[in-house]
Amino acid sequence: MYRIPLIALGLALYACSPSAPPEEPREGSAGDAPVVAWNHGGMVSAAHPYAVDAAAAILDRGGHAVDAAIAAHAVLGLVEPESSGLGGSGFMMVFDRGMPAPVVYDGRETAPAGASADMFVKDGQPMGFREAWQTGLAVGVPGTVAMYEAAHEKHGRLPWAELFQPAIRLARDGFEVPPKLHNWLVRLAPMVSGDIAPDAAAYLYPDGEPMAVGYLRNNPEYAATLTRIASEGARAFYQGEIAEAIARRAQQPPMPGPMTAADVNTYEVVARDAICGPFRDGRICSAPPPSSGSAQIMIANLYDRFIEDSDASLPEKMRAFVDAQRLSYADRDQYIADPAFAEVPAKTLIDADYLSRRAADRFAPTATPAAGALAPAGAATPRDADRSAERPGTSHLSIIDTDGNAVSLTASVGAPFGSLRFTHGFLLNNEMSDFSMAPTEKGEAAINAIVPGKRPRSSMSPTMVFDADDKLLIVTGSPGGNSIVAYVSKSILALLDWGLPAQAAADFPNVIARGTTVRVETSEPAGRAIADDLAALGYDVQESDGENSGLHLIVVRPTGLEGAADKRRDGTVARVGPE
Ligand code: DON
Repeated sequence: MYRIPLIALGLALYACSPSAPPEEPREGSAGDAPVVAWNHGGMVSAAHPYAVDAAAAILDRGGHAVDAAIAAHAVLGLVEPESSGLGGSGFMMVFDRGMPAPVVYDGRETAPAGASADMFVKDGQPMGFREAWQTGLAVGVPGTVAMYEAAHEKHGRLPWAELFQPAIRLARDGFEVPPKLHNWLVRLAPMVSGDIAPDAAAYLYPDGEPMAVGYLRNNPEYAATLTRIASEGARAFYQGEIAEAIARRAQQPPMPGPMTAADVNTYEVVARDAICGPFRDGRICSAPPPSSGSAQIMIANLYDRFIEDSDASLPEKMRAFVDAQRLSYADRDQYIADPAFAEVPAKTLIDADYLSRRAADRFAPTATPAAGALAPAGAATPRDADRSAERPGTSHLSIIDTDGNAVSLTASVGAPFGSLRFTHGFLLNNEMSDFSMAPTEKGEAAINAIVPGKRPRSSMSPTMVFDADDKLLIVTGSPGGNSIVAYVSKSILALLDWGLPAQAAADFPNVIARGTTVRVETSEPAGRAIADDLAALGYDVQESDGENSGLHLIVVRPTGLEGAADKRRDGTVARVGPE
């Protein structure tokens, strides 16, 4: 069986381009290992030009990728409040050249001390997503600001206070409402009740109407909150008045939540090793539990076990991608949760022996996926059908700084506009509904059941791929609820196996194979043939008219950096320094 080594990809695609300038040995900025000089400049890809500009200006001043990521994300919290912000969470993957592997700052929400496994059960039934959405119960303790601070303390180069100035300026002077924000305001208008969310309604629907594209919106409260964070640090958010206001807002009806100021005061970020596994002659690293990055490693490796050779036809490759997803999603749904509260076999899931056994589980297109048996002769205990409800409300950004350090950050408020509970210029999340809404499944405790202090399972998959020499090759990630897993793996295979340039990889039709159906984005021209091929093979194909991906990715080619911003959102790419 012939496999294209990762390093060959750039060479194959760019055979006619001039070769990269030679790299000089020099001392690395992190660790003691000497690393070679970086000649590619920096790049930012994120969901809005305001955020990209803020990050690019930071890189221009010699800032670290982490500095730029914080500056960009503080802007996104303002101009893309439907997706992420201070009242939510994120997983920030950081790679400093010279580090053996990336680290992930886990700023995921935690369940308040007063939370319980059955808090979303009503009349003996778990609530539906819509019922839980704008309730106080849905609000988890936010982790974004603590994540910023932990990453900046370790990697930041520019003064903390500087990072917030672009967002403060925009919040004070006003920003032009982007198309995506407007569209979501229109779509959500019938679901936003002035009785439930008077503060968010007043901010987002001035004069009772969705803000138009280009409407100049200011947010003095957000400017004030960031000004305090800039001068006092994350303490300003987690102690005192802001923390009390967060808890008070979560405690309001309908369905008041149990969060107290003490829950906010005691929030802790966790720095975790990225989960990394081999792929061909390189490595894929992604977000570890409580998030689902192990699935990136599973999907790529199962895919390789399914395609016979690199000349396989497109339908064969799509079938391999679909089956790799179905097996990986089933395992993800069964086995991933907060490792501080459950035994999570993420390492087993990416083990070569397990992957070979798992590949043999490949099933008929019409079969119902089941999780794999972790022990060779064992059988998986059905434990958790995963009742977590996920809806749009996330953003991803990728950054490489002018020294070749990188950040892959996915951040979320859960549903569009989170819980729609607004305080101090930002929205609170509704990520408690990423937990299993039912405490048990078939009589057994759900692995993702709610426990005080626990982090809900996430699909957020900030990812980096390294080549055979352990050099950074790809920085990628996407929003999209539990479809994130499919979107991100598409970007990796499109780059590494389907030979596509970065933008074409982002734009390629999304194919999501979770459960018994396969969703194919037929609104993309190439999606029609993929849908027809899969249907002919016997899959239950659902056609989708647009997907909720927002892939923002950067590829390191021998000739330099190549970035892409998903055309399905408002994002863009900026280059800093040499071509
Ligand atoms: O953490 C998660 O998996 C979800 N809260 C993500 C939600 C999401 O991506 C919505 N996307 N647009």
